[in-house]
Amino acid sequence: MAHSQRKILVTSALPYANGPIHLGHMLEHIQTDIWVRFQKLRGHLCTAVCADDAHGTAIMIKANNNGITSEELIDGVRKEHMADFNDFLIGYDNYHTTHSEENKALSSSIYKALRENGKISVRSIVQAYDPEKEMFLADRFIKGTCPKCKAEDQYGDNCEVCSATYTPMEMIDPRSVYSGATPVEKESEHYFFKLPDFQEFLAKWTRSGTLQDQVANKLSEWLDSGLQEWDISRDAPYFGFEIPDAPGKYFYVWLDAPIGYMASFKNLCDRTEGLEFDDYWGKDSDAELYHFIGKDIINFHALFWPAMLHSAGYRTPTGVNAHGYVTVNGTKMSKSRGTFIMARTYLNHLDPQYIRYYFAAKLNNSIDDIDLNLEDFVQRVNSDVVGKIVNIASRTASFINKKFDNTLSTDIVEMEMIQSFIDAGDVIANFFEQREYGKAIREIMRLADIANTYIADQAPWVLAKNEETLSKAQEVCTVALNLFSILMTYLKPVMPNLVTDTEVFLNKELTWDNRSELLFGKNVNKFSPLMGRIDAKQIEAMIEESKEAVAEAAKETTTTAEAVEEISELSKEPIAAEIDFDAFAKVDLRVALIVKAEHVPKANKLLKLTLDIGGETRTVFSGIKSAYKPEDLEGKLTVMVANLAPRKMKFGLSEGMVLAAGPGGEEIYLMELHDGAKPGQRIM
Ligand code: MSP
Ligand code: ZN
Repeated sequence: MAHSQRKILVTSALPYANGPIHLGHMLEHIQTDIWVRFQKLRGHLCTAVCADDAHGTAIMIKANNNGITSEELIDGVRKEHMADFNDFLIGYDNYHTTHSEENKALSSSIYKALRENGKISVRSIVQAYDPEKEMFLADRFIKGTCPKCKAEDQYGDNCEVCSATYTPMEMIDPRSVYSGATPVEKESEHYFFKLPDFQEFLAKWTRSGTLQDQVANKLSEWLDSGLQEWDISRDAPYFGFEIPDAPGKYFYVWLDAPIGYMASFKNLCDRTEGLEFDDYWGKDSDAELYHFIGKDIINFHALFWPAMLHSAGYRTPTGVNAHGYVTVNGTKMSKSRGTFIMARTYLNHLDPQYIRYYFAAKLNNSIDDIDLNLEDFVQRVNSDVVGKIVNIASRTASFINKKFDNTLSTDIVEMEMIQSFIDAGDVIANFFEQREYGKAIREIMRLADIANTYIADQAPWVLAKNEETLSKAQEVCTVALNLFSILMTYLKPVMPNLVTDTEVFLNKELTWDNRSELLFGKNVNKFSPLMGRIDAKQIEAMIEESKEAVAEAAKETTTTAEAVEEISELSKEPIAAEIDFDAFAKVDLRVALIVKAEHVPKANKLLKLTLDIGGETRTVFSGIKSAYKPEDLEGKLTVMVANLAPRKMKFGLSEGMVLAAGPGGEEIYLMELHDGAKPGQRIM
């Protein structure tokens, strides 16, 4: 091998364990995976680790709402995330969780090192507190009326209508989104990391070639305006690690999240012969360390993180590689337009290699956003991958299979063209190394055009018809398949499965270095179609499914922000000012006999009711558990909305709703009818 072997550790940002992976996340993992596969293909020792980011309030609340423990929630989500990455051909060497023994130990020891260095300060701060749930409230968990423009239902830190910023207690009528209670102010001790002490270190570090210029410039503004101490503690109840010697205080999720990179690697080292933690993280490490992240989390990775590592006696990253955001058809991914596409939804319709190719073609070394234009996506994949690359083989392979008994020509011809393809590998490698994937793809496609022109000019299908030119046809096809194998080598980091199939066909494992070992005189195997075109119908179906998935998710309140309010039959939909009689008449209200009432395992608020509406039986999940014992309900007559569209809930299908009034808790009053009303009678 011409070059010496590098030792490289690569990470992607750790996805939150409270929701599914979407195509925005996937851009990052694809960017990382292409880079890692490229390094491995070049013969370097490159290790890639990731993990779920499992701590924090949002996860705790969501688990609580789903009636499961935080551990159960993060275990389930981690399995889904791992399946998504696996099916997108993202090959992490380890996919761990931040809620691990390794992370707990590392977080504690790093914290203790910072404390010993005098980099932790402790002081009391006043915060909003939910007196009912007995917990402190971050600003986004408080809603109320904007003190400036009086817009209702705004978050506790700023107004989306007039952009005013304020503290939650300055709002008119602030409410906890958990309980609806009015927050009070409460004092508590917090732990801070003394970031200002690292001003000078960071000014230097951020300009030492570790960051993109665009990013370093942005950070300069922060650095110039002075750094603040960073609050790294949260009060119980909190799902995370307790801070050493501080009972009831927990590490803020962002303290132990990046340490999760180390922990995931540690976990891998502990079961991998020859992989040593200190070789990669020790102060004098000669390994390279890269973090791939989105532009929204730069400050955590380029300020807090290097300062922590530096102070705790570890090496700092070689590079923090930030990317922009995915937009779809030119705008933010949108749930209502069906462009908020989950990884799994995509996989239900399309080969992951299509979007790996498309993102690669668009990725560069900047933090500009990346647009997934769905029409362009179909067009580009079909014309580049199928029309140009795969086509080289499909136009030539069958002759070799059928006419030449799978044998390639021994005549070494067209060496100039072939050599130019081999030489281009150096330029392409440089582009991949610099994360200029778009430029690499353009170069590959330029070569593909040359190959296709050669085939069209030589027209092996004409040569093959004639006995005298038959061996010329074999020559042309052999040259074409040599070019094909070189281009496939370059595309291996991007479309690994396509290339695996190609390797089977060519009888050769493709590596960057062996691309100059040509195939003249070699045998190939039977060619089968490598990849089909995308049909626009597949895209439509994916968008349709995305819309449905979002509708389902909304009903099941699975998104972070909404996760705080459990689905309840008593949900507070805005009430229309006035409806006409026809609208009212459309509501099919029926007398319903409660035949059976049961607890729902793991549900906090719901009871499962079996209702008889005159010969027809309905199952309804109703949020009345806090007020009624199931056995007291059986045999009662109530009123149900019988023509409400059934909705799928976490616990089963709810086929209507029963009527009740009251503020909640024990004060919920189910509507009851006197005996004599008959099940199924219409109410008007
Ligand atoms: N848990 C933190 C990261 C901790 S790293 C020590 C987090 N999680 S996240 O799930 O919100 O985001 C994970 C990564 O996905 C981030 O790098 C983020 O920038 C990226 N993306 C999330 N949505 C994205 C798009 N729409 N487009 C591109 N990347 C996006 O932040
Ligand atoms: Zn306002």
